[in-house]
Amino acid sequence: QHCFTKSLDGFLYCEDTKVQDIMEKVEKRPFYLYSKPQITRNVEAYKEALEGLKNSIIGYAIKANNNLKILQHLRKLGCGAVLVSGNELKLALHAGFDPTKCIFNGNGKILEDLILAAQEGVFVNVDSEFDLENIVTAAKVAGRKVNVLLRINPDVDPQVHPYVATGNKNSKFGIRNEKLQWFLDAVKAHPNELKLVGAHCHLGSTITKVDIFRDAAVLMVNYIDEIRAQGFEVDYLNIGGGLGIDYYHSGAVLPTPRDLIDTVRELVLSRNLNLVIEPGRSLIANTCCLVNRVTGVKTNGTKNFIVIDGSMAELIRPSLYDAYQHIELVSPTPPDADVSTFDVVGPVCESADFLGKERELPTPAKGTGLVVHDAGAYCMSMASTYNLKMRPPEYWVEEDGSVTKIRHGETFEDHIRFFEGL
Ligand code: LLP
Repeated sequence: QHCFTKSLDGFLYCEDTKVQDIMEKVEKRPFYLYSKPQITRNVEAYKEALEGLKNSIIGYAIKANNNLKILQHLRKLGCGAVLVSGNELKLALHAGFDPTKCIFNGNGKILEDLILAAQEGVFVNVDSEFDLENIVTAAKVAGRKVNVLLRINPDVDPQVHPYVATGNKNSKFGIRNEKLQWFLDAVKAHPNELKLVGAHCHLGSTITKVDIFRDAAVLMVNYIDEIRAQGFEVDYLNIGGGLGIDYYHSGAVLPTPRDLIDTVRELVLSRNLNLVIEPGRSLIANTCCLVNRVTGVKTNGTKNFIVIDGSMAELIRPSLYDAYQHIELVSPTPPDADVSTFDVVGPVCESADFLGKERELPTPAKGTGLVVHDAGAYCMSMASTYNLKMRPPEYWVEEDGSVTKIRHGETFEDHIRFFEGL
């Protein structure tokens, strides 16, 4: 069951609520609309997939979407959190996440944030020589031993856009295997500061073949065997995040969370490991649409444009990665409608400002609702205020069909506040 569906009446629904009705009730500006039940269903799919794997952790990657209400919901459902900055760590703690289910990642973690991580007792992934030094210092300052995992760069090609590939040998992330011994010796040299508890890898994002995860997991358990052979009692295998979703709405059968877990299950059990996963996109992307209004339609040269009120400021993935996100109108297509090929663009002053290219759509009237699908991950969290398009409000549809605001939209007054008292 998916939350956004076109019903027989031709209208788009979020669960059982007509998106057009929601548009009439809320502020007249672009907004993100989520389905709370879909978030629950996505977490349940992972939980069911992980049955039989004891002490596994679903570390939700907060970078994908940091709405506090959503975080609190994910925490109540039993998720942990994956963090890449001190502020993400503070937010996770604020949302009530159990620190022993939190993992602090990143290639440029700063000392101040590592001290907080050490004080709070979250897992820390070691990314480099200097990172290890900083973690040791943080442990001394905090007066607390830090549980660390080595982030290994396994050099497995995730077959994705280069901007979201992280596990190839020339990427800036993680530790290459030829340096593994240096890190094991460094951990041994700091028995009061570091406890090595496992190994981590993250290959990249939008991965649509589970064999890629399997290849990495095979390499990773071999590394764990090597690490254990040196007397370390490591229990955790963290295979990162990265599972892709069906952005094209093409009906193609993509791997599910169960397919992902099943492909590594035997390996994990054979070594008696606790599995950690770090999903972002596959937990949250498909739970949300960006809802926009058509400002007008125009033609230049051979191009037809639908101009909407939303833009690359609210949703940058198409501009940044040439990413495809499915677009449709919220209202039925009249039988005599004129269907054309349109670029769907925003009002921002640059030609990178598009939400979709060459889309077959009925020519919409001014004011028609137009949604960009699968906008739950890396959309609001990457939104900007470019052109002073303030970041949009967020709403969700609850189990009982009611619509609740879960984040205020930013306003002009918010911008002026940054200059008060200067
Ligand atoms: N773990 C680590 C260490 C990561 O770097 C990431 C994402 C994740 C987990 C979660 O990956 P996911 O399951 O969401 O694929 N802004 C890009 C995506 C960047 C992903 C960065 N790392 C986009 O909009 O496609």
